[in-house]
Amino acid sequence: MFVLSIILRTMTTKTIEWLDGKLRILDQSRLPREQIFADLDNYHDVVLAIKEMKVRGAPAIGIVAAYGIALGAAGIKTTNKDDFLAQLNQIMQAFATSRPTAVNLFQAISKMKKAAEGDSVTEVRKSLINEARRIHQEEISATEKLSRLGARLIRDGFTVLTHCNAGSLATAGYGTALGVIKAAREQGKKMSVFATETRPLLQGARLTTWELMQEGIPVTLITDSMAGYFMKRGEIDCVIVGADRIAANGYTANKIGTYALAVLANAHGIPFYVAAPTSTIDLSLTSGYQIPIEERSPEEVTHIQGVAIAPVGVKAANPAFDVTPPSHVTAIITEKGIIRAPYTEGLKEVSSGSS
Ligand code: MRU
Repeated sequence: MFVLSIILRTMTTKTIEWLDGKLRILDQSRLPREQIFADLDNYHDVVLAIKEMKVRGAPAIGIVAAYGIALGAAGIKTTNKDDFLAQLNQIMQAFATSRPTAVNLFQAISKMKKAAEGDSVTEVRKSLINEARRIHQEEISATEKLSRLGARLIRDGFTVLTHCNAGSLATAGYGTALGVIKAAREQGKKMSVFATETRPLLQGARLTTWELMQEGIPVTLITDSMAGYFMKRGEIDCVIVGADRIAANGYTANKIGTYALAVLANAHGIPFYVAAPTSTIDLSLTSGYQIPIEERSPEEVTHIQGVAIAPVGVKAANPAFDVTPPSHVTAIITEKGIIRAPYTEGLKEVSSGSS
């Protein structure tokens, strides 16, 4: 893996890029202290980048996995098509076990599987690269569209609370929750943002504040436990979050802590919006409680950026996501429309015809 250091000036810089047969990613695990790009030239490094959250955020994981599969295909050393497809299948399996919750990963793998066609190994390889590029473009355009649609929900002068990071870093495009905020600002609305720090891995503190500051959007960082205080004081006009997987009945998995924010927002009569491309909808799951929740290392809880904050040997739990029921969601913003309860019909409608 070749590592390259570059100072970012604006978020127009590409966070994921296919360059001369290699995958260039901005290493999110090192932000905001260091802005390091890594050039990945084999699929093992791409799987590792997803597991270690150098790339994170549901749409970004899907895009990177697609390019990773194309990279893997380029590295297979056989011209026999059956052997090639068998090895390609193993590569896809490696991606399927990288992170379990974001469905975009599995949607991308299944699209790549379908694209693995051609008379020769060379043709299959080409078709895989084309499909990865298509998935990338599709996500960029979906987040742009949903951001513009969602911006209608934001009024001039609003203060929006968001959780985790659902911006350019998480999507390779405009962003989902942050995309809506950016689009509203582009429409001339003044607004400010409260970003929760998002323990344990601090995506809000490290990434969301960084992105918003680059965009010149006023942001206040708070710890996760401060949200209720500011809601009670009437300082939050709405909450917008992203999603990792939305089940057919509207139950939504997103970063741990999202459910608590939804309950708080409901208790204070504050609208709670979920912004997600249709690639995040999983109609194969009839209930949100079927969504697999990633359990990460307890060390991420007992330590902050390598520094121990708890007694040695203490038991710690680390579910990375939780599930918010549709009863607590005011609307789901997708690129094909804004859906309101009852969600089952609306989710089916926007998913039909999704490639
Ligand atoms: O564990 P992460 O950082 O990958 O979790 C990311 C989130 O929960 C985001 O809110 C979600 O993927 C939406 S990104 C547009």
